[in-house]
Amino acid sequence: MNILVTGGAGFIGSHVVRLFVNRYPDYNIVNMDKLTYAGNLANLADVEERPNYTFVRADICDYERVLEILKEHKIEGIIHLAAESHVDRSIRDPFSFAQTNVMGTLSLLQAARNYWESLPEGYEGKRFYHISTDEVYGALDFDGTFFTEETKYAPHSPYSASKASSDHFVRAYHDTYGMPTIVTNCSNNYGPYQFPEKLIPLFINNIRRGKQLPVYGKGENVRDWLYVEDHARAIDIIFHRGKTADTYNIGGFNEWRNIDLIKVIIATVDRLLGNPEGASLSLIKYVTDRPGHDLRYAIDSSKLKEELGWEPSLQFEEGIERTVRWYLDNEAWMEQVTSGEYMRYYDEMYNNR
Ligand code: NAD
Ligand code: DAU
Repeated sequence: MNILVTGGAGFIGSHVVRLFVNRYPDYNIVNMDKLTYAGNLANLADVEERPNYTFVRADICDYERVLEILKEHKIEGIIHLAAESHVDRSIRDPFSFAQTNVMGTLSLLQAARNYWESLPEGYEGKRFYHISTDEVYGALDFDGTFFTEETKYAPHSPYSASKASSDHFVRAYHDTYGMPTIVTNCSNNYGPYQFPEKLIPLFINNIRRGKQLPVYGKGENVRDWLYVEDHARAIDIIFHRGKTADTYNIGGFNEWRNIDLIKVIIATVDRLLGNPEGASLSLIKYVTDRPGHDLRYAIDSSKLKEELGWEPSLQFEEGIERTVRWYLDNEAWMEQVTSGEYMRYYDEMYNNR
């Protein structure tokens, strides 16, 4: 197959590209990425010379260019991850989230429709797989309930509203034009190559540099954490065997209150750096809460387990140990992504809290 992965230079995308390039030597994997602040080709240095891998720098919003790329590489399957992905940024700049996540997804859908409908076999053997988030379901209370595939959409942040909108467009292209689409909604990912604006890599990096750890509100919000390679494995299974026009939730059955997770991160970093136990606890600083901060996310991914046999493979303790080690061992990567523009943004944003 010829597969286009959008956003392949980002966090999850780079794990998906690596998995597909390694696992499917007979496929051609085309990584199309605009290389925003979050995209980094260093994330894929280990596969960049492979004969079944091609990188193309392009913006999903550029419909004509996307169409050209689909035709040139005879793309049969699309795994769409390109997005603006950080909630705090969406609160500051909602327009760019609507532009990339909604208009960009629409541009990609329309280009795929145009190209695939022009072929003699049409949509046969094609697949448009859209990667979405559990945040489209809104927030849960501390009542033990879970998001299922039937939960009504109720997004709260500009980010989740833009992802919800893009999900609706994807489903509309199936219902209206017969495009073979599929959507998955996943919980919080963690692991190597995540941009250090997100909680786990940000805090690991701050602890190492002796910087404060800004805990939003009381640190009581709950997230369900999944190791990124388990997500990539789910994407592989669903891309190949998921039911067309269906939706699958992907989650870790691994809920953590932020403050408890933060204490695990502190203990792990301190231990691996040889600091006295609890040395970095004093870096915790409770700061103004994120506006509209969703209280709790929890995903029920039993449909995926029952239908396609996927479940998380890594215990959280092992996942967090691997993750902390990776960031501590890859200081050059961290230096590269936190230099220049990003640090100016970070300092402005966090110093104002
Ligand atoms: P990320 O921010 O690390 O990477 C996004 C990538 O998209 C970057 O490489 C960036 O350069 C690229 N990109 C952005 N705008 C683009 C454009 N206009 N054209 C082409 N490329 C563009 O994001 P991530 O955390 O890897 O998330 C990937 C996808 O998975 C997103 O759609 C996100 O909504 C979804 N998701 C993320 C999580 C999570 O915990 N990180 C959980 C569930 C779903
Ligand atoms: O649930 C899936 C979503 O998970 C994805 O769709 C998003 O792309 C991804 O960014 C993530 O969203 P969150 O907002 O949950 O992730 P973030 O790492 O930004 O924050 C995790 C929790 O930690 C959240 O409750 C806010 C809190 N937090 C975050 C930061 C960056 C802090 O307390 N302090 C911080 O500095």
